[in-house]
This record gives sequence, structure tokens and C-alpha cells, in this order.
Amino acid sequence: MLRNILSIIDKNVVGFEGIMRIEGGEVNGATSGIGAETARVLAKRGVKIVMPARDLRKAARVKENIQKEHPKADIIVLEIDLSSFASIKKFCSEFLSLEIPLNILINNAGKFSQKLEFSEDKFEMTFATNYLGHFLLTELLLEKMIDTARQTGVEGRIVNVSSVIHSWVKKDHFDFNRMLQPKHYNATRAYAQSKLANIMHANELATQMKAIDANITINSVHPGIVKTGIIRDHKGIITDSMFFVASKLLKSTSQGASTTCYVALSAKMEGVSGRYFADCNESRCSALASDDSEAHKLWKQTRALIYKRLRTEIKS
Ligand SMILES: NC(=O)c1ccc[n+]([C@@H]2O[C@H](COP(=O)([O-])OP(=O)(O)OC[C@H]3O[C@@H](n4cnc5c(N)ncnc54)[C@H](OP(=O)(O)O)[C@@H]3O)[C@@H](O)[C@H]2O)c1
Repeated sequence: MLRNILSIIDKNVVGFEGIMRIEGGEVNGATSGIGAETARVLAKRGVKIVMPARDLRKAARVKENIQKEHPKADIIVLEIDLSSFASIKKFCSEFLSLEIPLNILINNAGKFSQKLEFSEDKFEMTFATNYLGHFLLTELLLEKMIDTARQTGVEGRIVNVSSVIHSWVKKDHFDFNRMLQPKHYNATRAYAQSKLANIMHANELATQMKAIDANITINSVHPGIVKTGIIRDHKGIITDSMFFVASKLLKSTSQGASTTCYVALSAKMEGVSGRYFADCNESRCSALASDDSEAHKLWKQTRALIYKRLRTEIKS
């Protein structure tokens, strides 16, 4: 029954009446799962796609599969490791040197780190990949998006792929410094914290874009529960029992990509910004996720951290 409802939603998405006119888009985390499907749908819509990936061979295979289906699909693969500030900077300078328009940015890549690991910048790996990486990437591409929107007259759209699990995080477990370097690591909590930060990032940026009258929207989505690599990485008693319940609500990969594609492409989404979507509909996120002052505080802390780190790098 539920599957049927979901496929109806999907049919609506695939067949949504108005589609934005888009020239260029960037989908990260497109080597598998929801991202690969999102890239396929965008390519089908004629979007020139940049696919940043850390595994270039996997990305080449996804590109080949899309081009088998859509021979005219225009896809550029570039290297990125979203857990590394240096790699993100390198990717952005390569991308910007291509001088192609950027209408859509889909922050989809995600990691669920079972054990406490640290990124090369010495931050907890899940938070570094899922949140800090997307934050820096967006920061470095934002000017390009604003310019593209101005030159083309087409609204720029950023989509942060979050998760319903963000609502598990309570305020006393949302301390910036503790998330960067946790003392007592809990993998599910770290993942949920990063997904909460994705929503707050979208909300704060939406406010900032409105304030400067930029023709850019930014929203976050929960794709639904899809058995992809990230779910297979979830082990442990809490996530296993949660997954058992959730498995009754499992979506296919294309159903999982449908909310992202809807938010990125539908004409009905014009001007909609700073919202949270699930099943191709606006949905309620947690009270903490919609707390504007917390979102602003997080944005300031993140920006200060990143720029301090980049300045140190430039000096050394
Ligand atoms: N599946 C679900 O049920 C579910 C539910 C809620 C939210 N989500 C969110 O949906 C998004 C897509 O996840 P998925 O389910 O499709 O999982 P997935 O199949 O594991 O895909 C994750 C993608 O992220 C990429 N990635 C991970 N770490 C990276 C890094 N350091 N640098 C660059 N790319 C990196 C992976 O690349 P590699 O191929 O190199 O590993 C892969 O392409 C994630 O943000 C996830 O949190 C998923």
C-alpha cells in the first residue's frame, strides 16, 4: 500500500509539469545510491552535470551508464574528497576554471563512520564529510551561482540532502567543538548531528540570500529510507532495530532521489527557500532545526573555523 503511494508520488515527480530551464548542475556523492540516480534524472532533463567524486573509476562507470541511456548527456567528472578542505579548494578552482554556468548544487554526498576517525584536517570524519565539506564547497561556489543566476535570469538552487534522523539530536548534544572532536563517540549520534547541521546551514543561507536579494534558493530534503551503501554501513543494536521498523517503509533508489529532483527542478518550487522536504512535500523538521538563532550561531562558528584553517594554510 505504502509502496503504491510512493510510486504515485514518484510518477508526479517524473511527470511534473513545469521544469526549470537549467544549464549546469553539480551533484556530489553521485558514484552510488541516491546521488547516482539524481545525476541520471538531471542528465535526462538535459542538465550539463559536474560530478565531483573521490573514486574516479566509480564515477566514470556511473557516467558511462547514464550515457548508455542518454547518449547526449554531458557529464564532467572531477576529483574531490569532501572530508578534506584542500581537496575541496582544488576541486573548486578546477571547476571555476571551466567557466561553465552553475544553476544547481546538490549537496548529496554522505558518510556514516562506524568508528571514531578523523579527517586530514583533524575533525570527526562524519561531521567533516557531511557538514563541513558541504559548507566549504557551497561557500566557494556561491559567488558563481549568484553570477549564473544574474546572467541567465534563472533561479539558482541548492539542495542539502539531510535525513529525518536529524530530529534525534537534542540541544545539549549539539555543541560545535564537541562535534569536531567528540570525547565519547556515538556513530548514529554523529551522523544525526551532521544531518541537523545540513538543515541549519540551508536555513541560514536562505536568510542570507534573501537579505542580499540573490536569486538563489536553498532547501533541505529527507530522501526516505533507501538501502544504499550508507544504510549498509549502519550497524549496532539501535540502528538495526530502527532499520527493521524502517525496512517496512523502504523506498527504491529512484523514489529516494525524487524529493531532491523535485526540489531542484520543479517550477512549483520557484522562490521557495529555507524549507525542509520529504516525499516531495514540505515537511516539519525538528524545533532545533528550525531555530534561526542556533542556525546563525552554527554558521558563524563554522565560517570562523574554516577561514582560520585556510588562513593558516596560506601562511605556512
Ligand atoms: N539511504 C538512506 O536511507 C538515506 C536516508 C536519509 C538520508 N540519506 C542521505 O542521502 C545521501 C546519499 O546517500 P546514499 O544513501 O545514496 O548513500 P551511498 O550510496 O553510500 O552514497 C554516498 C555517496 O557519498 C559519497 N561520499 C562519501 N564520502 C565522500 C567523500 N569524503 N568525498 C566525496 N564523496 C563522498 C560516496 O562516494 P564513494 O563512492 O567514494 O564512497 C557516495 O557517492 C547522504 O547524504 C545520506 O546521508 C540517505
